[in-house]
This record gives sequence, C-alpha cells and structure tokens, in this order.
Amino acid sequence: MSNQPRHIAIIMDGNGRWATAQGKSRTYGHERGAETVRAITTYCARHSDIDRLSLYAFSTENWKRPKIEVEFLMKLLERYLKSECSTYLEGNIRFEPIGDLSLFSKSLRKIINDVQNATANCNGLVQSLALNYGSRDEIVRAINALRNEESITEESLSNALDCTHDIDLLIRTGGDHRLSNFLLWQAAYAELFFTDTLWPEFTADELETIIKKFKTVERRFGGLN
Ligand code: FPP
Repeated sequence: MSNQPRHIAIIMDGNGRWATAQGKSRTYGHERGAETVRAITTYCARHSDIDRLSLYAFSTENWKRPKIEVEFLMKLLERYLKSECSTYLEGNIRFEPIGDLSLFSKSLRKIINDVQNATANCNGLVQSLALNYGSRDEIVRAINALRNEESITEESLSNALDCTHDIDLLIRTGGDHRLSNFLLWQAAYAELFFTDTLWPEFTADELETIIKKFKTVERRFGGLN
C-alpha cells in the first residue's frame, strides 16, 4: 500500500477569526482564504503523485450565517471560478463540484457548469469544491437514487455518492477537531491531521510538512501491519 496521499481533503476553517484578529471584516478573511485555495491547489497540481484535492467551500449548514456573509461567499465563489478558469487550464486541473447545486442562483450554476465543461479534458489534478455539501445529505441522495435496486451494497452506495474516492489524508485548519459533516463515508480510513493555523495563513510548506508526517504513518486498514 502506497504511503503517498493521492486524495487530500481539507476543511478550510479560520477565515473569520483570522480577519477579526487583523481588525478586518470576516469577508476579508474569506477573500484571503480564496488566495490560499489558489496556492494550495497550485502546489497539489505540481505534484503528480497527488490525484485529487477536495475542499470544503460551502456546507449545507453555512446558509445559517448572516445573509450578508452568505451573499459575499456566493459572489466570491463566482468571481473565483471566473478568474481561475485559466489557472485550471494552464495547470491541467479538472474542476469537479460536489454537493447539491440546485439551491444556487442560475448565474452561479452556469459558471460552475462552464468551468466544469471547460476543464473536462484536463487530466492532472482534480480539484473538487464541496458546494452546498453535507455528507449526510450526500448519503441520503445516494440512497434515494438507489431505492429501486434490489439490494444496496457498499460498492453501489459508494458509486452513487457525489465523491466516489476514498480519502487518504484529511486536514482541518483552524484548531477544531471535528469533521463537520464533510466526506464522512470517504474518510473511513483517512489519516486525520488538525492544525491550529487559520486557513488564510495555511501554506504549501505546512502542507508539505503534513505530507511528510503522513508518509511515516503505517496504515493498516483494519488488518495487521
Ligand atoms: C471557514 O471560515 C470557511 C468557510 C465558511 C468556507 C471556506 C471558504 C473559503 C476558503 C473562501 C472561498 C472559497 C473559494 C473556493 C473561493 P470561517 O468563516 O468558519 O472561520 P471562523 O471559524 O474563524 O469563523
């Protein structure tokens, strides 16, 4: 079993606290958080042994935030996808959203769709953004999609999920130690790393240090060595 993390997932937490500590608005933290998304995606795209980067960008619970913050996040996402399309293409990065996109505005759905189509033939890194994503919601949608099947197996359920790839390494920034409804099924055998670093300050160097630690861990997948 390879000790290289091929699928890395990140819960990007701490934008708001980072901005507040600078005396700035929370939205400024999200703005800076988007720059970290770009830097970490570029790092992963340059490492051909990393196949997939899944990032928790907007959860099914994030709608509960103040309207002004939700609206800002929607606009930021739209702006990010528009401006990053060339970065995806230059880096041979395929963009794949996961989550229930039906609640987003028509214009946001269009840009998500456009970037997905534009990058469909890229065969380097897959950058998957979790958008209106919740793991329980994903599992319920998958079960509903399979409800006319005679029986449901681990394999058929796994294949009906938005994300059909097991995670090797799951990182959460921002100091909390929880999974917050992110890729629960896919994280069954993931190594979990938690860092106090707030997302806008997370760097490729820190990711590299975590990957080095990951490589020293013996993964047994329930077996004996
Ligand atoms: C958590 O910070 C972060 C989010 C709500 C989602 C992540 C969003 C970004 C990284 C910015 C936009 C992303 C893209 C792809 C353009 P928080 O607000 O929960 O921070 P806090 O815990 O300090 O309040």
